[in-house]
Amino acid sequence: MEGVLPHRAAQLLGEARRVVIFTGAGMSAESGVPTFRDDLTGLWARFDAQQLATAEAFRTDPDLVWGWYEWRRARVRRAEPNSGHLAITTIESRIPGSTVITQNVDDLHERAGTQAVIHLHGSLFTPRCGTAAAHPATFPDPPDGEPAEPHEGRRISPPRCAYCRAPVRPGVVWFGEALPEAALTAAVEAATACDVLLTVGTSGVVYPAAAIPQIAARSGATVIQVNPQPTPLDRIAAINLRGTAAQVLSTLVATAWR
Ligand code: APR
Repeated sequence: MEGVLPHRAAQLLGEARRVVIFTGAGMSAESGVPTFRDDLTGLWARFDAQQLATAEAFRTDPDLVWGWYEWRRARVRRAEPNSGHLAITTIESRIPGSTVITQNVDDLHERAGTQAVIHLHGSLFTPRCGTAAAHPATFPDPPDGEPAEPHEGRRISPPRCAYCRAPVRPGVVWFGEALPEAALTAAVEAATACDVLLTVGTSGVVYPAAAIPQIAARSGATVIQVNPQPTPLDRIAAINLRGTAAQVLSTLVATAWR
């Protein structure tokens, strides 16, 4: 990653008082977790993720949808945080009060050691009762806590809620569902208060999450984008770094605090 832009970005990061790091699926790509708009593979190749990630799909075929999320959870549990996730923990330690706002439902930020993570789209690791009561639920994992046999995906009947016997659902936000109010409020507050927002590995096409970088820019923050591809966020980013999360973030942190 050569050129004046990375050095300018590193300088802005090194001088920042409050940083928000806004991440999407590209953040976890180098950990081997496919992005949301990558073509699905294996048994899931004939499905479109955006069709499976809906309450309607779960109502129609709970075993298919639960099986897909359990396959994704097993893949995440076999993955490791990449150097981009680790670079973000360095930013958090260097600039107290930094916040990660993620659209990802994996737990790689937390497993890298990041303390303040806002999940706008929920998590693979917080299953809940499928009724409005949203009773908390736990996974029927084997007693030793090891994930169920990693499988390339199959239909699995979801467990039943211990309180009301309704099917347990993944703790993620499906298309057409509202984002968790507390998470969205905290994310907007953080974006409004930061002076630098790093947007990393998101296509910037799904709202309201994709509004976060725009809220930061409108509040006077400098937006820096990290993505190998152009996205609609190019036009609000002061600096567009064309590269991958692991490579660019590691270089930024090494340059900002050499
Ligand atoms: N490093 C950085 N960015 C990458 C990398 C990488 N190694 N690999 C891919 N990307 C970029 C792609 O260029 C793309 O812009 O990551 C982005 C991934 O985009 P999506 O798959 O659309 O994922 P995301 O932006 O997180 O989707 C947002 O939409 O489908 C819903 O709820 C789902 O949270 C998801 C939301």
